[in-house]
Amino acid sequence: MGIEVKDLLSVHDLSTTDVNKILDLAKMLKAQQKSGEQHHLLKGKTLGMIFQKASTRTRVSFEVGMWQLGGTALFLNANDLQIGRGEPVKDTARVLSRYVDGIMIRTSSHDEVIEMAKYATVPVINALTEMMHPCQALTDIFTVMEHKGKLKGLKMAYIGDGNNMVHSLIHACAKVGMDIAIAAPKGYEPDAAIVAEALEVAAVTGSTITIGNDPLVAAEQADVLYTDVWASMGRETEQNIRKIAFAGYQINNEVMNVAKADAIVLHCLPAHRGEEITDEVMESEQSVVFDQAENRLHVQKAIMVLLMKQRTKSL
Ligand code: CP
Ligand code: NVA
Repeated sequence: MGIEVKDLLSVHDLSTTDVNKILDLAKMLKAQQKSGEQHHLLKGKTLGMIFQKASTRTRVSFEVGMWQLGGTALFLNANDLQIGRGEPVKDTARVLSRYVDGIMIRTSSHDEVIEMAKYATVPVINALTEMMHPCQALTDIFTVMEHKGKLKGLKMAYIGDGNNMVHSLIHACAKVGMDIAIAAPKGYEPDAAIVAEALEVAAVTGSTITIGNDPLVAAEQADVLYTDVWASMGRETEQNIRKIAFAGYQINNEVMNVAKADAIVLHCLPAHRGEEITDEVMESEQSVVFDQAENRLHVQKAIMVLLMKQRTKSL
């Protein structure tokens, strides 16, 4: 059991086989949890969870997930760690590796997570950086699979900011052969380097990646509609300027009407109703955002098992 990487830093690092292993194990673990069957696959193991940013879903789902797997999780507020007072990441990585069996980190800088993984002798899981949110994107394709029964050939439309969320979604869609059409305001499109690396994967899996500025064009005949906040964590000071730039980049009835009649709506949450999504769409039958939030638990349990089960600390 396992996947071909030591860490989960980006969906792009995973092979399509690795992605499928995560989805398959998540499905099994979800069934076991629902039926009350014990699945202590990480008995005695410990996960250290470093948070430099706020979180509801990530914190609770990792902590509960570790407990359900027979292990334990430590919440480590970055401001309370010495890392918050300047202790180097590379030292923190090696120290924590002597105590815990896996490190989960949510922080601004993607390079910091890469540095953590380079020096940690235990697996490192990226739980959101400014660049990527791989655990969420893997959860999202798992949720699509649950609701649509397949991934290949489906069309996802992402409307909004070219941020960490869409970067990981682009990677995930390319890996599994899903088409993704993005509508972002001019100047807020996804990172060109990320699109370029995903396009290479898409050429093999047969998916298409389209970047544009028109929400109605992106949403046309979509199977899945996705949005995220206009101003991500760390961008709060840009809130007012972004409200102007993003006006119209919203999942609302007009957008729903051009998508397929059975399209599902996803949002990583937290949502700002009245901005990137209307309350009506959030609360509609087509919205599966709470299934999606629940699935963070099951998918991350699969990720932790696949990364942490066989690995023992090198002391
Ligand atoms: N979607 C997500 O990562 O939520 P939190 O910020 O609450 O963890
Ligand atoms: N793009 C959002 C995702 C939150 C889960 C942010 O970075 O704040």
